[in-house]
Amino acid sequence: MDLLIKNGTVVNSNGRYKADVAVKSGKVVAVGIGLDPQGAEIVDATDLLVLPGGLDVHTHLELPVGDTLSADDYMTGTRAAACGGVTMVIDFVMQGNGQGLLEAVKGRDKLAAPKACVDYGFHVAITDLTDDILDEMESAVNMGVTSFKVFMTYAFGITDGVFYKVLRRSKDIGALVMVHAENHDVLEIRKAEFIAQGKTSAWYHYLSRPEFVESEADIRAIELAKSVGAPLYIVHLGCEDGMKAVEKARTEGYPIFAETCPHYLNFTCEVYKRPDGRNFVCSPPMKGQASQDALWLGIENGNIATVATDHCPFQTTEKDWGKDDFTKIPNGCMGIENLYPYLLSEANKGRISFERAVELCCANPAKLFGCAPQKGYIAPGSDADIVLYDPSKDFTISQKNMHSTIDYTIWEGVQLKGYPVRTYSKGALVYKDGEFVGKPGHGEFVKRNPVKRSGPAL
Ligand code: URP
Ligand code: ZN
Ligand code: ZN
Repeated sequence: MDLLIKNGTVVNSNGRYKADVAVKSGKVVAVGIGLDPQGAEIVDATDLLVLPGGLDVHTHLELPVGDTLSADDYMTGTRAAACGGVTMVIDFVMQGNGQGLLEAVKGRDKLAAPKACVDYGFHVAITDLTDDILDEMESAVNMGVTSFKVFMTYAFGITDGVFYKVLRRSKDIGALVMVHAENHDVLEIRKAEFIAQGKTSAWYHYLSRPEFVESEADIRAIELAKSVGAPLYIVHLGCEDGMKAVEKARTEGYPIFAETCPHYLNFTCEVYKRPDGRNFVCSPPMKGQASQDALWLGIENGNIATVATDHCPFQTTEKDWGKDDFTKIPNGCMGIENLYPYLLSEANKGRISFERAVELCCANPAKLFGCAPQKGYIAPGSDADIVLYDPSKDFTISQKNMHSTIDYTIWEGVQLKGYPVRTYSKGALVYKDGEFVGKPGHGEFVKRNPVKRSGPAL
């Protein structure tokens, strides 16, 4: 044994109990009362919660966007993740025009491997579908990339026909299709009209893609998935009618899974009226209070499957490109370091249980994306990805106490009740009392497994 975490309260998604956790060679080897340290390092976790490390299954690290890259690279992004208790990220690889999927993934892995401070995986976004790519999807699954993303908007968005083919193929090979759902044609018309009318502020970013622009696409995506019996994962769900459509499909027995993000749970479209409104520009935009309430209901009643961040931040000077034209603001917000502390704080304040927070941030993402129980659980045989959480520690989020490279945070001033005090990644201490203590290159690619699903259960 290398490490014994003693006297804490272990919380998994299915319950909590007082127990010691023994770690050897990066794995949990025992969980039980009064374990003998056998000479191992002892960490006293009295009054602390002992939690599985979080998974952030929606990140865009060093993503090429126009002439720039999203601000966090694989080092600074995973460093921030570690400091927020996240011990695995799944990042999006974008297929280039005419590019093979394996080539695209291998290219990104070359960038990530030397820099990653915690474990990582990849989803691949299909932007240029051919018969060869349909064939290659199975090779991607065999190399551990078991999820494919399609965008219904952006310049690289796909048609409904391509979406349909990707769903059909994914069902056959046990892959999960993820979708960014917004009605492209309608939002493009609205954007052009607002700009022509001189309505250029960040508020018009929201008005160009309001609730129905997202929910129409959610409903269309669900219908396409139902038509072929394929599982579907809707990323960054932000609207009430989309939430209702997910609930209806799940009630009917379809394997439809929804992810939302912390920023939709904490902010509404009112932020776009602020002087720094452009810093909140992401797509889909944050919506009205009714949508936020619907998402919280989904968190409480089980119809939201996961919470992940869509971490895709840009520096202030880059957001400023759009100060006179909202269409020029690079889309994306930060959250990788806030995800798990925010959900845990909401649990600590009594809105949800700690078990549900762990389910949303650890167990469900690990199950859906084919890496459970290696990830997402504290149990013998699982990776020793462990967070020690102090429920009595108050924390106010500020750019100054974050560990990414960004020069502001949309979360500035948000107060949390409770905070992680240590993060272990595969048994190695990577975060302690506000400081990053890990190493770039420690994180490894996680080969995920295909999962066949036929119903709404995970
Ligand atoms: O605005 C966002 N969300 N940017 C990142 C790319 C995406 O759509 O997920
Ligand atoms: Zn998206
Ligand atoms: Zn995204």
